[in-house]
Amino acid sequence: MKKQKKLVVGNWKMNPLTLEDAKNILNNVKKISPKLKKTEVVICPPYIYIPLLSKTRVKNLSIGAQNAHYEINGSFTGEVSFAELDQFGVDFVILGHSERRKMGEDNVLINKKIKAITGCGMKAILCIGESQRDHGGDYLSFIRSQISECLKDIPKKSIDNVIIAYEPIWAIGAKDAMSPVDLHEMNIFIKKVLRDAFGVLADDVRVIYGGAVDKNNAFELVKEGNVSGFLVGRESLKAKDFVEIIKIIESI
Ligand code: PGA
Repeated sequence: MKKQKKLVVGNWKMNPLTLEDAKNILNNVKKISPKLKKTEVVICPPYIYIPLLSKTRVKNLSIGAQNAHYEINGSFTGEVSFAELDQFGVDFVILGHSERRKMGEDNVLINKKIKAITGCGMKAILCIGESQRDHGGDYLSFIRSQISECLKDIPKKSIDNVIIAYEPIWAIGAKDAMSPVDLHEMNIFIKKVLRDAFGVLADDVRVIYGGAVDKNNAFELVKEGNVSGFLVGRESLKAKDFVEIIKIIESI
């Protein structure tokens, strides 16, 4: 089993409004990332900022994308391909975020994207998560099928290019994150599903959590939830708080 670094991913979504603000946040993260020993950080800005923000590279910090098309190029108005992103040093791509699923992306499309991205050695951050929980445990079968459909026919050797971001939809943008105990349980379940499909190679896959992560709940979520890091939305736009979250992860 490889010793993988913990991962803190900032999903900026369609923010910030100005390039100047984007540079400011990134500069704060740049100050801390070279000092990290156990953690790597990925910032996923809107596409338009990527070439400008990825010019100077810093240790333990990568620029990622929030989506990518699975074809190399072609007539796909408004899309950007993984190969185009690759030229700008993009190593990580978030796929299947619930906000994109809401716009119509399904597991079949996400699977095509994961194949294209991991096939060329880039890393796919696959978002999964149920919209609500039921007492009967149907949400567990929902998560199982999200994983198996999105990772269908991914070669075993490519599985360590996949990161699973477990983001229960009810916690995204919410006031509170899920409980660390429930996260721990879900983490075990996800790892088991991956093991069933990919064998021991799945033990290298990092499972991270997203949904209302902040500097106050980060410690418990990682420590008790036993996850390998976070996918952070709102708090990744507040430079100081985001750096605080990175420091917490590094300290564990
Ligand atoms: P949040 O968003 O941290 O603002 O809840 C998480 C996400 O959408 O990835």
